[in-house]
Amino acid sequence: KIPLLIDTDPGVDDALALLMAFADPAHEVVGLSIAAGNVGLAHTVANALKLCEVAAVEVPVFAGCPVPLVHAAADAAYVHGRDGFGDTGYLPATRRAEAEHAALAIVRLSHEHAGRLRLVTLGPLTNLALALRLDPALPSRIARLVVMGGAVTGRGNTSIPAEFNIGFDPEAAHIVFESFAHFDLVDWEAVLRHGLSQAEFGRWLTAGDRRARFYAAISRQNRDWSSDRRGTQWLAADALAMAQALDPAGALECEERRVHVELEGRLSRGATVVDWDRRHGHPPNARILLRYDQSRFEAQVRRALGAG
Ligand code: BDR
Ligand code: CA
Repeated sequence: KIPLLIDTDPGVDDALALLMAFADPAHEVVGLSIAAGNVGLAHTVANALKLCEVAAVEVPVFAGCPVPLVHAAADAAYVHGRDGFGDTGYLPATRRAEAEHAALAIVRLSHEHAGRLRLVTLGPLTNLALALRLDPALPSRIARLVVMGGAVTGRGNTSIPAEFNIGFDPEAAHIVFESFAHFDLVDWEAVLRHGLSQAEFGRWLTAGDRRARFYAAISRQNRDWSSDRRGTQWLAADALAMAQALDPAGALECEERRVHVELEGRLSRGATVVDWDRRHGHPPNARILLRYDQSRFEAQVRRALGAG
């Protein structure tokens, strides 16, 4: 099986992505390194542990950085609930997080699975940036990196041009984007093109197993919030990134370009600046996903919920 390490800040859409990874027969999830982002670290760690319990998997969970590298940032509790999992008051998992810090775990696992490890990031890039500062040779041991983040033509979801994961910790994103020669980028604008039908998703939740029942509860607030704003489409950003990570053959259209992160600016801090017309001499670092096979994406989501 292909070893997969997931850096994540669960988070309602993170949770769906994690269930997809756990359910994939070709990959073995070797660790969850946990970031602060959607909500504070205590909640994102507790949510990861709970999800492992619900999915009946024994994946080690590593707590990471509680704050961004340089500037404080606002969370996304208004989207995910105060506890990040829709405020259902679930009973906490019995298992605890490992003692090892997430950044150290990333470095260690990259040695243990050198040349084979796939890494997917579903949250702010603080842990990975720290790991890169601990060990700048890290990228040479990672077989593939998939990042959920950015807004490649400036249509963000946090500030006008910034997407949440990059906007939360732009310095960390800058370190990651400058350190990896190649990575897959699944940005917010791709997510906008790959909504899931609320009605169909509701049917999968009803048809599925205990994972679907748990997911129905923790995603309810988020789905309601979303139908008020986006009507019939529900967006699961991290799930699309996970589809691309698990089944890259589902990518129908990609563009390779240099992507930079804006660290300053009155309106643009945290924006991803894409050199679409190759104005600067820098080689491309990102393979930007433009279109993914929707039916392959949906098949992965259904399997993750035990609905088909
Ligand atoms: C990203 O921000 C978070 O709120 C989601 O979990 C996702 O990772 C989407 O912009
Ligand atoms: Ca996330």
